[in-house]
Parts: sequence; structure tokens; C-alpha cells
Amino acid sequence: MEVIDNREITDNVFILRLELTENALKPEPGQFYLLRPDSGYDPLLGRPFSAFRWNNDWIEFLIRKTGRGTALLSTFRPGDHIRILGPLGRSFPPHSPHKTPVVLAGGIGMASVYSLTLKHKAEHIFIYGAKSATELLLTEDIRPRVRELYLCTDDGSMGFQGNVVEFFTEFLKKTSSHSIVVYACGPEKMTKSLMEILKKYNIESYLSLEERMACGLGACMGCAKDTKTGMKRVCMEGPVFNIEEL
Ligand SMILES: Cc1cc2nc3c(=O)[nH]c(=O)nc-3n(C[C@H](O)[C@H](O)[C@H](O)COP(=O)(O)OP(=O)(O)OC[C@H]3O[C@@H](n4cnc5c(N)ncnc54)[C@H](O)[C@@H]3O)c2cc1C
Ligand code: FES
Repeated sequence: MEVIDNREITDNVFILRLELTENALKPEPGQFYLLRPDSGYDPLLGRPFSAFRWNNDWIEFLIRKTGRGTALLSTFRPGDHIRILGPLGRSFPPHSPHKTPVVLAGGIGMASVYSLTLKHKAEHIFIYGAKSATELLLTEDIRPRVRELYLCTDDGSMGFQGNVVEFFTEFLKKTSSHSIVVYACGPEKMTKSLMEILKKYNIESYLSLEERMACGLGACMGCAKDTKTGMKRVCMEGPVFNIEEL
């Protein structure tokens, strides 16, 4: 696909917009794509990125530079071409009309859950955390799309001082756990501590997990995770898992 735009929004995060051809399948919230340069073999393997925003003409990815592949993607300019494979994986299932959807986003995990707010405007309670205020991205863009937005920072430079799991623990004291459904994505440490709480209160929940990937198509088993019902491939049976499976 052709690069339409590539702009840095902070020192190490950029939004890459690619053309979507007319017959390209549209993603569902939580699905991802493998991206790699159109020419050459470096890097050889595509890198997985969540579908962030899209319409009929383009799709955007919100990407944090963490290593060689993401640094290379940040250098692409309008008119360059990128090989994309997707949409891949399982999406977040829709919520029951009887439950309030609560989204928890930690750091760049926001890229995976943001699109829930495109599909169901002003319905979600959105809890978003990062290390500091400068790392909370696009908050003014999120605010009008959600019912309530709560921001958390580890250093207290904006919103609640603490991480999203600590905030959620406080939030639960005022909320009936049976009246909500949780959608979450964030770093492994956040997911682990969140799972303990979600299981303790028996809350219907869907988590998007991250794993290094090679083929993205279920063939190499490189992304397999141990679950209650055996090894599951994050690229095929995930990346979104019902917490009951984990
Ligand atoms: C389903 C899925 C969706 C993702 N969506 C996004 C997104 O929307 N935006 C975004 O910025 N990132 C996303 N990621 C993470 C992203 O794929 C990695 O940051 C990227 O592949 C790193 O490539 P690299 O070549 O720059 O880093 P490398 O040089 O390969 O590695 C740099 C560092 O990142 C770690 N790393 C590499 N891949 C992963 C991974 N898959 N999960 C966790 N740590 C990793 C390595 O262990 C190493 O410490 C997603 C990952 C998955 C599995
Ligand atoms: S990346 Fe190959 S099976 Fe998932």
C-alpha cells in the first residue's frame, strides 16, 4: 500500500497513514496487520500493529519506536510503499446492551482499543494511563468519543497518580462488577495485575495480548501462549482473548 502520510506526534511515536484500496477488507477493533518494507529483506519479518483508525480510503497505525523495524517504518514518506498483511486475528466482541463497556489502555496499548470508540461513540468509560503527561497521546481526540475519560500517570503529572490498574481498583469500589464489561490492552506487567482483579471479581473481560510474531498466519507457532485449554497462537486465536481462557 502507498504511504499517504507519516507524522511524528511525540519524540518516539508516529502515525502512519496508508492508502486502502477499494476492495481491501476493513478491520474490526482489536485486529492487527503485519507491516514491512515493500522492497528488500531487511527486516525479513513483518512487525504486528493494531488497526488504529480507518475509513474507506485509508488506514492509520499508531506506532512507538522500540527497535530496528519501527525506526525504519518511521522513515517512510508519502509515495513510498509498504507491504501489509491483514486484517489478522480476532477482534474485540461487541458488548451486551445491558453492560457498560470499560476500556483500559496502558501506554501504546491505546492503539489497539481506541477503535472501539469509533464504532460505539460516547458509550465507553475510557481509563488511559502512561508514565507521564507527555506520554498520554491524543487525549483531546478521545474525550468527545467516550462517555467518561479518566487519565492516570505514574508520576502524577496529569490525572490520577498511579497506574490504570490502581485506578480501576478504586473505580470498582463504586461500580457493580456485574454491570460492566472490560476491554484492555497494555504492557505485560499491567495485563498480569489486571487479570488478578478481573478474575477475583468475576468480570466479563477481553484482553489483547502482545507476543513477538513471525508468520502472523498461524503456521510457525512462534507466538504461542499457554492457556487453560493448551497452547494458543496469539496471531490466530488472539490477540484478543476472553479472560476465561487465560
Ligand atoms: C497484535 C499486536 C499488535 C501490536 N500493535 C502495536 C501498535 O499498534 N503500536 C505499536 O507501537 N506497537 C504494537 N505492537 C508491538 C510492536 O509489534 C513491536 O513494538 C514491534 O514489532 C517492534 O519491532 P522493532 O523491529 O522495532 O523492535 P525489535 O528490534 O524487534 O525489538 C525491540 C524491543 O521490542 C520488544 N518487542 C518486539 N516485538 C514485540 C512484541 N510483539 N511485543 C512486545 N515486545 C516486543 C523486543 O523484545 C525488544 O525489547 C503490537 C504487537 C502485537 C503482537
Ligand atoms: S506468528 Fe506464526 S503462528 Fe503466530
